[in-house]
Amino acid sequence: MQETTGAVSGAVITFFSTASAVGKTLLSCNMASELARQGARVALVDFDLQFGDICNYLHLEPQQTVADAERSVELMGDAFDVRECLATYRYSGVEFSVLAAPKALSEAYNLRTPILRQLIERLRVLYDYVILDTTSMFSELNVAMLDLSTIVTFLGVVDFIPTIKNMKIGSETLKTLGYQEKIRLVLNRSNAKTHISLDDVESILGQPFYHILPNDFQAASQSIRDGVPLVLKSRHTDLSEALRDLVARYTNRPQDVAFDEEAGPEKTSWFDKIFH
Ligand SMILES: Nc1ncnc2c1ncn2[C@@H]1O[C@H](COP(=O)(O)OP(=O)(O)OP(=O)(O)O)[C@@H](O)[C@H]1O
Ligand SMILES: [Mg+2]
Repeated sequence: MQETTGAVSGAVITFFSTASAVGKTLLSCNMASELARQGARVALVDFDLQFGDICNYLHLEPQQTVADAERSVELMGDAFDVRECLATYRYSGVEFSVLAAPKALSEAYNLRTPILRQLIERLRVLYDYVILDTTSMFSELNVAMLDLSTIVTFLGVVDFIPTIKNMKIGSETLKTLGYQEKIRLVLNRSNAKTHISLDDVESILGQPFYHILPNDFQAASQSIRDGVPLVLKSRHTDLSEALRDLVARYTNRPQDVAFDEEAGPEKTSWFDKIFH
């Protein structure tokens, strides 16, 4: 945990990319689930304001969304408790909170970045981890979120040359912004059919991938159909193992194997702070 001006502050783990459909939402949901399964207090935030998918992936129907939270901060200031706008995801004894994207596209316009930033700051006081799903652009909101993040998972797939070109631009921009230390370059869908070699991509990007996740279309789509993240239900697929391994690396904690779906989450208390 991090000390800031006397208040204990949770870690913010952000999923960002320069291409769409690379797995930001799938990874965010699984990261939140695995951390919650291990006993941490977790809030998962959908800042894909126009086309947010977290509630679809988790089969949630939230009463309130980030649009309501933003209005409430404006109206009530410090008297507003952000928890009033959170939904709860539950599966087999594991639970975490979700701040959903607006229900209507029209509500996604004009949400003010400083207020959204405040919402994250409030959540990080209440939770051990704030997991943040974003969109694939260097927007004002995303840059503000990259700025306050503890770790940024910069996610990519290797499919076409333009994707790699955009990853290169993205990774250089992140360096220029001074975020090199907190960036984790992660490759998703690694064994998908492609004629581009990983070595070539790493040499173009000028750095190796921190972590690599395999392609498993079947498991990924089944988990979305079920509304249950892979780490909670299909734990023995290679993809699920690789997802849990990523969480273990972020938390400096060896991946554990015991999870009884009936028995629910671990009861251990812990908190070693991230980076390695
Ligand atoms: N490792 C994987 N293997 C196979 N399919 C995957 C994998 N990771 C993600 N997918 C699939 O890729 C698609 C896109 O994933 P996801 O929605 O998480 O991407 P995203 O980066 O959030 O996209 P967007 O930019 O549109 O928000 C989904 O259908 C998901 O099931
Ligand atoms: Mg998404």
